[in-house]
Amino acid sequence: MSVTTDLCAPLAVLGHDVQVPLVNGEKVAYAALDYAASSPALQRVWDDVAAYAPYYGSVHRGAGYLSQLSTDLFEQSRRTVEEFLDLREGDQVVFTRATTDSLNLLAGALPAGTEVFVFETEHHASLLPWRRDGLTVSYLRAPRSHAEAVAALDTALAGAGEGPKLFCVTGASNVTGELWPVAELTRTAHRYGARVVLDAAQLAPHHRVSVRELDVDWVAFSGHKLYAPFGSGVLAGRRDWLDAAEPYLAGGGATRTVAREADGSVAVEWNSGPARHEAGSPNVIGAYAIAAACRALSEAGFDALEAREQQLIARLKAGLAEIPEVKVLSLFGDTPLLTDVARVGVLSFVVQGWNSSHFSAALSAEYGIGVRDGLFCAHPLVRTLLGGEEAPPSECGAPEASLPGERSLNAIRVSFGAGTPDEHVDRFLTAVRELVTDGAAWSYRSEGGRCVADTRRAA
Ligand SMILES: Cc1ncc(COP(=O)(O)O)c(C=O)c1O
Repeated sequence: MSVTTDLCAPLAVLGHDVQVPLVNGEKVAYAALDYAASSPALQRVWDDVAAYAPYYGSVHRGAGYLSQLSTDLFEQSRRTVEEFLDLREGDQVVFTRATTDSLNLLAGALPAGTEVFVFETEHHASLLPWRRDGLTVSYLRAPRSHAEAVAALDTALAGAGEGPKLFCVTGASNVTGELWPVAELTRTAHRYGARVVLDAAQLAPHHRVSVRELDVDWVAFSGHKLYAPFGSGVLAGRRDWLDAAEPYLAGGGATRTVAREADGSVAVEWNSGPARHEAGSPNVIGAYAIAAACRALSEAGFDALEAREQQLIARLKAGLAEIPEVKVLSLFGDTPLLTDVARVGVLSFVVQGWNSSHFSAALSAEYGIGVRDGLFCAHPLVRTLLGGEEAPPSECGAPEASLPGERSLNAIRVSFGAGTPDEHVDRFLTAVRELVTDGAAWSYRSEGGRCVADTRRAA
């Protein structure tokens, strides 16, 4: 594939020049390497939202000019997302708050008696919404290869009943960045009449997602991971189960008619389509921002974005491979740094002799680099990768409360994307090398469950 230099340049993002304080009193431009948690906003998204903001008005409930304009833009945003996801005829886009919200919406809409199949390695947002009355959940053990994943699903579905079935799978792991064989898993699921929902929270920001080509039944993603941090997400796909379900929220907008009955009760006829599950005033700015991000990514072109990201991944992997104390976590590769399994720009690792919280705190305090440490809301997966059940999990997002130097019970995650310059990856590699070789230059202490820098130099 040939890619022009222009298209390989990082996309402009907000915050690229924000200066953050180091523990030594100096300041440095922040290196945001935590895209998997929340990516920075694309400048384009910010500009589009700013241009729209003066015209902001109520959606689906106003006769005034700006209300009508906002309603049009909201519905146009839906069309843009439909195109971005390459939906099939008859599919729909429901705007939600984020992926977690989308998957919970779907869980509430599953027909009674649905058997849900999910790998235990999923992010908690894909692992947990199905635990509710009327559904049964089968947790499939962590597969160690794509082939094993497909075989495990095949075996599980072969033993399933005749009723409705759903398989939920992530497109790209938020821990290892590894891609899952979505199309193959979907073919397997469909052979047994099971439907498939794709958690594309980590896939959509890095890869083109075509619902038509993957043939999944639904896809979910979050705006704040797709360079559009305005509190919006998407559940897209088939209408039938959603139209047959109770509305996700009961309230205005989800109703067609509400009438008082002769006996004093109130009869409701619910809407069908997206409106059924979008009760209340919608987040028009959020939807508009997602659409702006979809447009910006499509215009930049995923081929070019991926080519650039793969260059950064190769650079990162090669750099880490030179540091023997670093162990990169991989579900699908026996020799993690050599594996050919495709991945997005998300990579987790542990450093021999280091507590991950300590290491991450030093990256921030001494180098101005923002990564994440912890179990990444995927506790069973990270425990599998770390090879143990040893510690009770910390709260989602909070690192284990442990002192520098203690054995690490969690991992460090570095993640990046369309706005990441080479310099961030280079600075990160230099920092890792220096910390491993020389140790932290400053002292660190545990405070409120976090590792924080002291104002003393290390002894
Ligand atoms: C793979 C995956 N799925 C789902 C989620 C949940 O996304 P959100 O917090 O935006 O609902 C995340 C968030 O990190 C994720 O990485």
